[in-house]
Amino acid sequence: MERKKNGSADKGSDSGIQRRTFLKGLLAAGVISALPWKSSAAEKDNSAQNGKGKNLYQKIIGSHLKTGEMVPGSEIGITVDHTLTHDLLGVMSYLQFEAMGIPSVRTKLSVSYVDHNLLQDGFENPDDHRYLESVADKYGILYSKAGNGICHQVHVDRFARPGWVLVGGDSHTPSSGSVGMLSMGAGGLDIAAAMGGGLFYMTYPKVMRINLNGTLSGWASAKDVILEVLRQLSTKGNVGWAIEYGGTGLPYLTVPERLSIANMGAEAGVTTSIFPSDDVVRQFLKAQEREDQWVELKPDADAPYDRVININLSALEPAVAFPHSPDNVKNVTQAGEIKVDQVLIGSCTNSSYRDLMVVAGMLKGRKIHPSVSFGIAPGSRQVLTAIASNGALADLVNAGARILESGCSFCNGSGQAPQSGGITVRTSNRNFTGRTATLDSKSYLVSPETAVATALTGKLTDPGKLGLAFPKVQMPDKFPVDDSMIIKPTGKAKIVRGPNIGAPPINTPMPSSLKAKVAVKVGDKITTDHITPGGSINKYRSNIPKYAEYVFRDVSPKFVELCKANKKEGVASVIVAGLSYGQGSSREHAALCPMYLGVRAVMAHTIERIHMANLINFGIVPLQFTKTSDYENIEEGDELAIDNIAGMLEKGAKTLAVRNISKGTVYSLKLDLTERQRNIVRRGGLLNYIKETIKV
Ligand code: F3S
Repeated sequence: MERKKNGSADKGSDSGIQRRTFLKGLLAAGVISALPWKSSAAEKDNSAQNGKGKNLYQKIIGSHLKTGEMVPGSEIGITVDHTLTHDLLGVMSYLQFEAMGIPSVRTKLSVSYVDHNLLQDGFENPDDHRYLESVADKYGILYSKAGNGICHQVHVDRFARPGWVLVGGDSHTPSSGSVGMLSMGAGGLDIAAAMGGGLFYMTYPKVMRINLNGTLSGWASAKDVILEVLRQLSTKGNVGWAIEYGGTGLPYLTVPERLSIANMGAEAGVTTSIFPSDDVVRQFLKAQEREDQWVELKPDADAPYDRVININLSALEPAVAFPHSPDNVKNVTQAGEIKVDQVLIGSCTNSSYRDLMVVAGMLKGRKIHPSVSFGIAPGSRQVLTAIASNGALADLVNAGARILESGCSFCNGSGQAPQSGGITVRTSNRNFTGRTATLDSKSYLVSPETAVATALTGKLTDPGKLGLAFPKVQMPDKFPVDDSMIIKPTGKAKIVRGPNIGAPPINTPMPSSLKAKVAVKVGDKITTDHITPGGSINKYRSNIPKYAEYVFRDVSPKFVELCKANKKEGVASVIVAGLSYGQGSSREHAALCPMYLGVRAVMAHTIERIHMANLINFGIVPLQFTKTSDYENIEEGDELAIDNIAGMLEKGAKTLAVRNISKGTVYSLKLDLTERQRNIVRRGGLLNYIKETIKV
């Protein structure tokens, strides 16, 4: 991995000529099949839009399909090979699994990771960890201990398999798409169902082929690729799509780079992202002592795609996502002068061996700017071991980095909050308001290369401006494999439950008619962080009555009180929202806590995929406006009625009439649910439904 210092690498400069010679050597050796500046392969890919072959989704879903048709927009049910959970959301998932009464998991592999709440600033987090460990032991689940690493990094390294299916209780589960695994984020209750042997239900997606052509040059890196994708797609309007990457540039993208790209497809709101399983994947699995798990998986030459986008990697420059959305992207050179207080490198997007070796190479023999607080969280114990044994860790420490624990750390708001009004530059994937745990801070998302340049200068800086040579980084032939912190189950443990862990609340069946009041009206792009904030209150995720006190804390502080008052009055509460409601994290708490407070309906322009599933799973009816004027007409406090809602759900109505008693108007809202989903909502949620449908 050697880069030219600045600009295009391939046009006549010394390093460009070296790179071309190197690539020609790879071609001659048969490691690659085409030179990236020869565009014919990419053009052939582009023309394959309506062919009769199969794309990657058709191949993997086709081999796991149990119900439904592979037609975009149709609900399908597929078998699940792997599940993963993490401690922040996993406790609810396992409590729900316990409630199903199933003796052990029925997947090929289920892994419980502890990576989010590692601060243990009180008994709550360690109690969660003990509970998770004991549940894993009892039900046949692998338990990845605190300190072993971030779930997505570890899963890609140690478990992900090309052509298999993974569902994970985290929206960045598509990271495993980097090795050709169909991997999707889902709510905790869906994970519990999959662990119990249930099918995973999803809407069959439209497939977007993104061709990555050419090679990255100058200081652009994988993060800049996904920021470019986000610049083009934005964070809204992509529900129902899945991305398949291809193009002539793939042979030059390592698995960790592919992971960074697949990971942040979540920010675009797509169902998932996937790369083919090629020789790069084989080499990676070999270095992880898993070559026997490799299979080649590529789309047919005439595979069909619903949309094709071409990105010329050679033309990309270092980019930055401005506050407060990952699609607010500019090139760093156009960002202007921004003085920064804090730089943090890590998260599941950018904490791999590749990333930290580039960071160490840039920092070697240099000191970070005195006014910057600079932290690095390696993605896993394996990454930390590798950089410790080759001396790179010393380069980081000598430069002035604070080495943070291998885990989510700052990305999750667990520590490293910026100062009041602080400017923070991060390699993570989300920069929503409040995600840093300091409400008035501003968070900018960049590549590790740009983060280092910024840490060295104290202001947002294009790494190409520093006059450094791009560090030479060789991916290891063999990673330091040591799974001793992944505990195998014995089936003997007794479940240990601390006082902060409460049983998950269960909804009641939908009443025949619904009387409700609007408890909040919000705008577009409300994230699950807005609904259920993170930071220091994360430790209450296992205690729903307590955590529910914080719903919409930073958006509508009176929401909880209004819901309680509505409950006292004997009426339900309703949330009214604009576009892309519920984007971001997959946390089911954003549905579970409102349900606990008495919310029975969400009325929005559009609702993001995972959140929609979570609302259904907790018996909240998701309704979509058909007219903008209806959204404009409705106000907080309005009294609403939906007559015969249970009967309409049973009948399969596609619209519901909502009477606004306060305004004297009637709205017709779309009810876009399958029969299975209608039955779940009618029964008051998936837990009630599942007890009747899964055989124990
Ligand atoms: Fe963790 Fe942040 Fe990824 S919280 S799973 S590192 S998005």
